[in-house]
Amino acid sequence: MYDFRIEAADKAELWRELTEAADALTSGEPDPVANMANVAALLWEALPDLNWAGFYRNIGGELVLGPFQGRPACIRIPFGKGVCGAAAASLAPQRIDDVDAFPGHIACDVASRSELVVPILIDGRAGSHAPGMAADVRGTSAPARLLGVIDLDSPSAGRFDAEDEAGCVKLAQRLAGRLHGMANMVSKG
Ligand code: SME
Repeated sequence: MYDFRIEAADKAELWRELTEAADALTSGEPDPVANMANVAALLWEALPDLNWAGFYRNIGGELVLGPFQGRPACIRIPFGKGVCGAAAASLAPQRIDDVDAFPGHIACDVASRSELVVPILIDGRAGSHAPGMAADVRGTSAPARLLGVIDLDSPSAGRFDAEDEAGCVKLAQRLAGRLHGMANMVSKG
């Protein structure tokens, strides 16, 4: 049985503990679905005031729903559409205080008021880029590849602050190696 008790004194500590727990849960497990499922459950349990927490995967330049907690959601999101698509196209986190003010927000759940979407990148870091690829800001030629995004929704406006964004970016960095292959699971049937 996994019993992660996250009782952090402040938000930075909460994200640190959550990231450590996610690291421990995914350590040694190569299956990306199992890892995404457990991390979605962890986010859902550890973070207060959410109505959705989960993953979209980059499948051939389109975001496709991955493991999550919350209400059934939109299955496919084109790059550039909605908050998730904006994160995928820009390879930059999107922190939206009021989703109703975001042009093109996709309302999977009308209860959502604010949203945080963080790209999961591998082989590089975010910078200027074509969709799905990013020039490496460290100056090497290694491009960043978008594996997918972490999406957090809240029924409260302005739920996510800069500490949530920084914490979720670090989580995505830590997880990237554990989610390798998450974008290559298209059924051939
Ligand atoms: N609201 C998102 C779509 C995904 S759901 O919230 C789960 C968006 O605008 O991209």
